[in-house]
Amino acid sequence: MGPLLPGAIHWHKVADNIAAINWNTENLSVFSIGERQLLLAKVNGKVYACTNRCPHASGAFSQGFLDAQGNIVCPLHKYKFSLQNGLNVTGEGYRLKIYAVEERPSGIFVGIQEQGLSVLPEIG
Ligand code: FES
Repeated sequence: MGPLLPGAIHWHKVADNIAAINWNTENLSVFSIGERQLLLAKVNGKVYACTNRCPHASGAFSQGFLDAQGNIVCPLHKYKFSLQNGLNVTGEGYRLKIYAVEERPSGIFVGIQEQGLSVLPEIG
């Protein structure tokens, strides 16, 4: 079998603007794209996106909160993750899946990379 090609990025509009997002008191909001549940987080007026499921034991980040540095804190065991690069800043060795966010004149868009589905034909 040939190598898998990385999937294309599809941009999904999540709101017209930041104010139109349904933020909770922790500046978090859940958004579903297909079966994927994403967390949107507002830090210093900027929107970040990651999966809503903690990579440790699937805690729902939407029940968590942001710390003073803007890291997302999982409600279950309080592991912290950077929303900028997915690093597990409390050092437990997990990695948070993050998504690109673009604020365009037409709205807020989250970029989802589709699974690599294309397979190059075998040569030879
Ligand atoms: S499930 Fe998130 S820290 Fe354990």
